[in-house]
Amino acid sequence: MTLPETFQKLVAVRHSKSFRDAVEIQTVSLDPPKPDEIVVKNLYAGVNAADLMMAAGQYLLPTPVPCGMGAEAVGEVVAVGQDVTAYEPGNYVLMNAIGCGYTEYYTIKATHAVPIPQASAEIMSLSIGGLTASIGLNITGEMQQGGEVVLVTAAAGGTGQFAVQLAKLAGNHVIGTCGSDEKAEMLKSLGCDRVVNYKKENLRDVLKAEYPKGVNLVFEGVGREMFDTALDHLARYGRLVTIGFISEYKDKPDIVQDVRVYYKVLGKMASIRGFNLNLFFGKPILAEHMMHLIGLLNEGKLQPQIDPQAFYGVSGAIDAVEYLQAGKNTGKVVVRF
Ligand SMILES: NC(=O)c1ccc[n+]([C@@H]2O[C@H](COP(=O)([O-])OP(=O)(O)OC[C@H]3O[C@@H](n4cnc5c(N)ncnc54)[C@H](OP(=O)(O)O)[C@@H]3O)[C@@H](O)[C@H]2O)c1
Repeated sequence: MTLPETFQKLVAVRHSKSFRDAVEIQTVSLDPPKPDEIVVKNLYAGVNAADLMMAAGQYLLPTPVPCGMGAEAVGEVVAVGQDVTAYEPGNYVLMNAIGCGYTEYYTIKATHAVPIPQASAEIMSLSIGGLTASIGLNITGEMQQGGEVVLVTAAAGGTGQFAVQLAKLAGNHVIGTCGSDEKAEMLKSLGCDRVVNYKKENLRDVLKAEYPKGVNLVFEGVGREMFDTALDHLARYGRLVTIGFISEYKDKPDIVQDVRVYYKVLGKMASIRGFNLNLFFGKPILAEHMMHLIGLLNEGKLQPQIDPQAFYGVSGAIDAVEYLQAGKNTGKVVVRF
């Protein structure tokens, strides 16, 4: 394959809570790989709620500008460095790295890429969403195999959909929240036992009336009232895994006034546990969970839901991030190249 001399990528050049204001499309030269690197032509990039926080410089890890945007992609290897033996042009890889996503080409150390048999949006969707659900529920949340009530918020999104499916596969009763009838239908099709469209039903009322013993495990990525409600309804020994708080990403942090958190957790021996996928990078556990997820996918036990709205290329990534932040997506939002 003849490689172009230049390519386009999306770069955050100033910190802003408006993704569109923070980024610009840059045309840069495509250099040959160093001895231990491969050059990848992107095919699918995943859109994540955290993209906005990265552009605002307020993500879990500091993201100084300029900063390439998009943190997960699959693509085709188009050039390999002289010391690379694991890959040859035509192979497909999965990548997780800040800046690997919203770019036509990405150069990465060969050892940092994950080989995959075929490039698809479904495999790509496993990387951040699937891994967060798998490690967040099983390791951080200590999910049991059956007998637990598991509450998943933003359940129809790129991450929540996997939490719903994995909690069901473990034999648990799953409550999922979402904001539209279309998303509710999707969640029912995934086997979610109780779907709460929070625009039509009050989650607090549902939990109080239908789950008087409380919720054993919460997988929570919305924040604000959703977090407060889940915390108030934890069962004895309940665990709340906080993975994010998208409802606050566009604004300044809420300053809240309530009793201190020990009033809510101590008597029940409940706990709030933070989860940050970045802290697992470079650890064997990541590969173990990825292999497990790919196994479930191959066995047909996991059905990644990809949002049908099509976004193309580097400029399409800006629209895709805004689409996700507006809460419009059903399943994983994907940018195609
Ligand atoms: N800690 C980690 O390592 C990690 C890794 C991956 C994801 N996350 C977190 O997981 C959460 C979901 O991320 P994602 O990338 O998978 O996104 P997503 O779920 O695909 O999309 C976001 C969804 O959040 C819901 N939402 C609820 N209230 C919202 C609000 N006020 N504004 C916008 N959306 C709202 C919307 O669905 P409904 O309104 O229908 O619920 C929307 O579709 C985020 O908090 C993200 O930061 C954390």
